Amino acid sequence: MTVEPARRLRGRVRLPGDKSVSHRYALLAALADGTSSIGGYAPGADCASTLACLRALGVVADLDAAGRLVVSGRGLRGLAAPQDPLDAGNSGTTLRLLAGILAAHAFSTVLTGDASLCRRPMRRLIVPLERMGAGIDSDDGHAPLTVRGAALSGIEHVLEVPSAQVKSAVLLAGLQARGTTVVREPAPTRDHTERALEAFGVRLERRGTAIVLEGGQALRPQRLEVPGDPSSAAFWAVAAAALPGSEVELAGVGLNPTRTALFDVLRRLGAAVEATVERVEAGEPSGRVVVRPASLAPLVIRPPEVPGLIDELPALAALATFGGGLEVTGASELRAKESDRITALVAGLAALGADAHELPDGFVVRPTRRLAGGTADSRGDHRLAMAFAVAALGALEPSTVLGAEAVAVSYPGFFEVLDQLRD
Ligand code: S3P
Repeated sequence: MTVEPARRLRGRVRLPGDKSVSHRYALLAALADGTSSIGGYAPGADCASTLACLRALGVVADLDAAGRLVVSGRGLRGLAAPQDPLDAGNSGTTLRLLAGILAAHAFSTVLTGDASLCRRPMRRLIVPLERMGAGIDSDDGHAPLTVRGAALSGIEHVLEVPSAQVKSAVLLAGLQARGTTVVREPAPTRDHTERALEAFGVRLERRGTAIVLEGGQALRPQRLEVPGDPSSAAFWAVAAAALPGSEVELAGVGLNPTRTALFDVLRRLGAAVEATVERVEAGEPSGRVVVRPASLAPLVIRPPEVPGLIDELPALAALATFGGGLEVTGASELRAKESDRITALVAGLAALGADAHELPDGFVVRPTRRLAGGTADSRGDHRLAMAFAVAALGALEPSTVLGAEAVAVSYPGFFEVLDQLRD
């Protein structure tokens, strides 16, 4: 994909449905006693992977005439044994949350994915699910996983790294286990699973850093609306902050406080970020966000801020190339994402002309004048493809993003929206 430099961005964007929330609504709907209806289900490949896996597990899930996803739930532990291995594609959330659900089903399932997903760490998930009573075979801590489901018992589990996916997998297993499950987080992560469980009628308790859940609670089917994805909105927010004269309105964007740290960072840089909550549905606030430019001062992201920004760090790195610079530490988790996001991000930004280098647990982008432009390789990682496209907007010459089709994982239509926003 060739990306031309931009003078500024102006306009209004309606975001695709939130990827994290969509996965959770589909999975919980599949475990509910009855039929749920989900509006605004995320259009990307990752959420399609979740639906394909659910269908292979006997769940009927189809779009109705109004474009809403209608899911016939099979009740707790009610999924059917699949004929073939389940393919989660590029989606870590699909694989990890399904592993938690299938750990409580009395059959064996093979869970696999693409080459990227099969490189990502799974031991963090295998350890607690085995403690609960499941058997899980892996390729030295990596997918493919064979999950041998069993009657589970609740456990108390302290997450070794802040991970909403692992937290969610243990909670979903705990929901189907005997007794109480307690998950403790070293740092707060996105809490969509907790909010969605409550929306489906499950009682859970938040005690400081712990979430406490009693097993065996039935889920009541729901009518739900997925908010727009703040992690997709992040790319337009940073571009609007970076390009003088821009003004972008993000409509219907999810404003769950565990997802809005990027907007706070932009405010810290002096950007005008006006966020207005317009509705709260199933415990998830959403509304409009208007972003106008920031001064491009050097930005430092310290370790405690990282969990709240984990998916937005590529966007912030793109922003840093407009002149301000950025230093991130405490982010070694970035190496365990869809690509090694430290190595691949630094390589791509450097190829566009940035002065960037790796740290063991982060990276540095030095403040510089405008990028020259060049060819950046996304390495098949959707968020890197979008980050390089945003960085390219500030370059002197047109740039090329290799592997740009990866945007379809979370944001099909990203490049069309970019063209609409150019002014
Ligand atoms: C997600 C959690 C995060 C995030 C990912 C989506 C989720 O991953 O990076 O894009 O939906 O729970 P980890 O749980 O591995 O940190």
